Amino acid sequence: MKKVMWVLLVSMFLGLLLYTTFNLLSNDKDIVYDDEQEGLNDQIIIKFSYVVAENTPKALTAQKFAELAQEKTNGRVKVEVFPNGILYSDEEEIEAIKNGNVQMIAPASSKVTSIFPELNLLDLPFAFPTYESIDEALTGEIGKSLLKATNTDRLIGFSLWNNGFKQVTSNRGSLTQPEDFQGQYFRVMPGDVIEKQFDLLNVQTSQIPFNLTYLNLENGTITGQENTLSNIYSKKFYEVQDHMTISNHGLLSYVVLMNKDFWNGLPQDIQKSLNEAMEEATDWNLQNALTMNKNALEKIKKKSDIHIHELTREEKESWMKELNPVYEQFEPVIGKELLSKLQSLRKANGMRVSDD
Ligand code: LMR
Repeated sequence: MKKVMWVLLVSMFLGLLLYTTFNLLSNDKDIVYDDEQEGLNDQIIIKFSYVVAENTPKALTAQKFAELAQEKTNGRVKVEVFPNGILYSDEEEIEAIKNGNVQMIAPASSKVTSIFPELNLLDLPFAFPTYESIDEALTGEIGKSLLKATNTDRLIGFSLWNNGFKQVTSNRGSLTQPEDFQGQYFRVMPGDVIEKQFDLLNVQTSQIPFNLTYLNLENGTITGQENTLSNIYSKKFYEVQDHMTISNHGLLSYVVLMNKDFWNGLPQDIQKSLNEAMEEATDWNLQNALTMNKNALEKIKKKSDIHIHELTREEKESWMKELNPVYEQFEPVIGKELLSKLQSLRKANGMRVSDD
């Protein structure tokens, strides 16, 4: 009897052991995998390259887009961002996207005006009287026409982003009147309107790459430059310049470009999610760029003793008078219709324009 009991007990024990082992093995469907591992080979990678520092409107918007893209595609898309020109400099990135070595870039719109001349509109001096008018231009009819113009057989214009208004700095005197520019030697970003603007001010220019600007300001090869407060701060230009004029004379906008073959090869649901991510990232950009530049100004004031002058109304009027011929000169390049939309926007935002 004892023997039978023993056999029964051992059989029950073995049965229990088998049952537990079987359950453990068959339950692997419940095991949670690390996101990084799941479908690793199917993950779509978007390389996004740009030249600015991480704490700037463009870089932060790119990071925002990366987060949203990952979230909206449940991790099927990973956007890898490459700031500070670590992959490509200004000129190289345009070749890189055309060749598909990166899938996204967001150059200053001025830097691609040789391919898309209509974008010159965004560099016109004093084109945008208010911050609201920038948003309206970038997301409204003007922006839509400009984006349409950036569609080619190799590129898709995805969105227009804002950095903010440009200011001027110099280590050769304060720049308050147009005459003060005489004899200055400025680093400029490439762009026909920008060149013309400085021609009218009798400034010699050089299209030095963004990431070499500090060095050239420091060693005195150039006397000044124009850029936004967030770029002046994040690249420390204020350290090697004596004067800064808050002039708000021009806009620094970006055109977000996507490689067309890459885009066309994406499944439709991914395209839809990326479009949504871009729309939200663009909204975020437009809401936050102004604050980022304001904060940059405060930090510049705290960290340096650069002399800062805010353009008075009269000074601004004399700059506008000097620079106004650019509008007429670029009408054939930008197109009459687009330019007249801009002039209507300017008037609606309180600007007196020349045909008044
Ligand atoms: C510059 O070259 O100054 C700017 O285009 C940099 C940037 O992308 O904001």
